[in-house]
Amino acid sequence: MYGPHGMSGGSSPARAKVTVPAIRARKRSLPPVGADRPGVSAGPIAMVTAYDFTMARLLDEAGVDVLLVGDSLGMVVQGHANTLAVTVDEICYHGRAVARGARSAHVVGDMPFMSFQVSAHSALENAGKMMKEGAFESVKLEGGAEVAEHVFRIVSAGIPVMGHIGLTPQAVHAMGGFKVQGKREDAAARLVRDAVALEQAGAYAIVLEAIPPDLAAQITSAVEIPTIGIGAGNACDGQVLVCYDLLGMYRDLSPKFAKRFAELGDAVVKATAEYVAEVKSGAFPAPEHTFKANGFRAAEVDDDDLDDAPRAPDRVH
Ligand code: KIV
Repeated sequence: MYGPHGMSGGSSPARAKVTVPAIRARKRSLPPVGADRPGVSAGPIAMVTAYDFTMARLLDEAGVDVLLVGDSLGMVVQGHANTLAVTVDEICYHGRAVARGARSAHVVGDMPFMSFQVSAHSALENAGKMMKEGAFESVKLEGGAEVAEHVFRIVSAGIPVMGHIGLTPQAVHAMGGFKVQGKREDAAARLVRDAVALEQAGAYAIVLEAIPPDLAAQITSAVEIPTIGIGAGNACDGQVLVCYDLLGMYRDLSPKFAKRFAELGDAVVKATAEYVAEVKSGAFPAPEHTFKANGFRAAEVDDDDLDDAPRAPDRVH
């Protein structure tokens, strides 16, 4: 709630909480579990990024299964050219806000650059911090076989881990930019091995980013955990998009795979320009946006009444 009239609460019927076992059960090759029960979703997993309470509440109301507090926030919220500057504390700050907005959706926190690569020990410490301070229900980290031991340590502590292979934005400089991965046979074979290594280490799902659809299909059938694609075709067990791409609000980059389901960026500019024009013309606020007193006029303020009030020092011009 804010202000005297508050925010509307949304009226959709309650959905069941999306848990890690429920996500695992959404592997397409498995028989659907509980899909016949009210509030339990079936079919491919719909995952979207979120970074704040209001957006999380809206996306949850729309039926999103998983909300990812992605380190993409470094680009779409903070305005950096890549995700490398994001810290664990920043992910936790946004995580707490998103967790307050998520009624049913599962909330995953992205482990930022250098929070898990250095050692399995520091990976576990940072994952633990994210669960305690970020209010996350699982963590996601980028990388394949080279981080399998780190995944194993985190999972062994009871923290569910989502993997992420293919285009891994934290390796942007090593990849020479945000480029499609797994196009060559050896690179494709390595990605299949990476997916299997992550599954063996205990990951409960894997994001496949920017890889050819046939390779995504091959990886999806090579593992028994769900794959969640972004620019990886429709054979995956789910899809993920950055919310500002999906809503047409982030205009600095537009990857081919990022379908814009709305042009809210244009709507924001148009609505705000109308606000600016009405403020300047005096049309806003109108009487209906103004509070009424109960039939009295505020008493005139005598200068003496203000003698004890704190005063700012005189400005130097
Ligand atoms: O940080 C992020 O938003 C992500 C998704 C694009 C998968 O990792």
